[in-house]
Amino acid sequence: MKQLRQCLGRFATGVTVVTCSDAAGNPYGITANSFSSVSLEPPLVLWNIAKISNSLQAYLDATHFAIHVLTAEQEFLAEHFAQTDHSRYDNIAYDFSETGVPLLPDVLARFDCRTADIYEGGDHYIIVGEIENHLFDDGEPLLFYRGDYRRVEHPG
Ligand SMILES: Cc1cc2nc3c(=O)[nH]c(=O)nc-3n(C[C@H](O)[C@H](O)[C@H](O)COP(=O)(O)O)c2cc1C
Repeated sequence: MKQLRQCLGRFATGVTVVTCSDAAGNPYGITANSFSSVSLEPPLVLWNIAKISNSLQAYLDATHFAIHVLTAEQEFLAEHFAQTDHSRYDNIAYDFSETGVPLLPDVLARFDCRTADIYEGGDHYIIVGEIENHLFDDGEPLLFYRGDYRRVEHPG
């Protein structure tokens, strides 16, 4: 298991925060690096959520969610939303979208999604979203590699 984790960790990724709200309107956020693009036509993306996540039910029930791609300056958001804590939005700036999804400002890219499909995948669920809106900005990405946050190094 440890060896497999180490092997999987050789795949460098960006870092996202995936947000949604539950039926009562409470905001949720979870740090995820399982994000991947799936299809351009129709525009689909996916991410995986652990079955043991305390937030699982909110994401399984949510009709909409947003994937925020973090900048190198937003490691604090990644750390914040990787914690198990039900008052996760304390001291975090956000707005609600028209569909009730919490939106974090100043990210590198954002995908506003309608939940299209959910598949079981071992100890995770695979959540597929159809992109209804997207935006992006210039900036440097936050990376995750071999279990640590990294930044892009520019030679010279
Ligand atoms: C860089 C990074 C990437 C992560 N990627 C995922 C992921 O793709 N799916 C997931 O379910 N958890 C992922 N996690 C763990 C969750 O962020 C964390 O378990 C969760 O926020 C714990 O809270 P909860 O159980 O209350 O939901 C990741 C954590 C980090 C630091």
